[in-house]
Amino acid sequence: TATTVDVRPLAGRIGAVIHGVRLSGRLAPQTFAAIHQALLKHKVLFFRGQQHLDDAEHQAFAGRWGDVVPHPTVPSRNGTDILELDSNHGGRANSWHTDVTFDADYPKVSVLRSLTIPDHGGDTVWANTAAAYNELPNEFKALAERLWAVHSNDYDYAATRVEPDDAGAQHYREVFRSRLIEAQHPLVRVHPETGERTLVAGHFLKRFVGYNTHDSQHLFEIVQHHITRLENTVRWHWAEGDVAIWDNRATQHYAINDYGHQHRVVRRVTVRGEVPVSVQG
Ligand code: SIN
Repeated sequence: TATTVDVRPLAGRIGAVIHGVRLSGRLAPQTFAAIHQALLKHKVLFFRGQQHLDDAEHQAFAGRWGDVVPHPTVPSRNGTDILELDSNHGGRANSWHTDVTFDADYPKVSVLRSLTIPDHGGDTVWANTAAAYNELPNEFKALAERLWAVHSNDYDYAATRVEPDDAGAQHYREVFRSRLIEAQHPLVRVHPETGERTLVAGHFLKRFVGYNTHDSQHLFEIVQHHITRLENTVRWHWAEGDVAIWDNRATQHYAINDYGHQHRVVRRVTVRGEVPVSVQG
């Protein structure tokens, strides 16, 4: 069927802006299908001028992809499944990650809407983890396809270089009172809709199964380096009322914390994903 949406690619390997769509839970099926196809192709989509969305409509729109799931440890906004990230209350996601990979069936899609945006700074960057896999040397692909990793919401050595029993980790647990949640994922998953192979890594990856901390760290750095190469990324400069939607099975993202004391508030809805399937099935 003919698409009704105007999709304009933004960077060479990831990202597109969609014009002329007013997002809502009641989008016509063909419009939603066109957005969905564009998402599978471009991995992250941007929409300007969506100020009409309130929490309920934001959630209803995300619900077109499937079951909306609240964040497993951070309390949602009252009466919703929405995660609010407020820079005045620790909501600065300035570390490369895929959302909630410490869950076995981590989200497939995230829908982020901006409420308060700094006068300057506060951009977000996304990276294409399918393109990153594709450019790996063949020998490294073969190794990557056999690797499994533990992902956890515990204090993360990969970002901080501390061991899990450090005082810092203790402090983190006490302050945030998070439940410890762990899942094992293949480093390479087969995307359930496109069949592409994508790399599953990022902030929550703690260690590779069968490797010690130091070797895990080196492997992690090689993988992250490939994922976050500038050629695999797109950067979005937010305005209030913008919406970004990403395929959380094929991307990582990083919210740049360069806006000092300026205020930034965004709200995120996530949709339940599938347990990743490795190349071996
Ligand atoms: C997130 O990590 O989902 C938030 C990204 C952002 O604040 O731009």
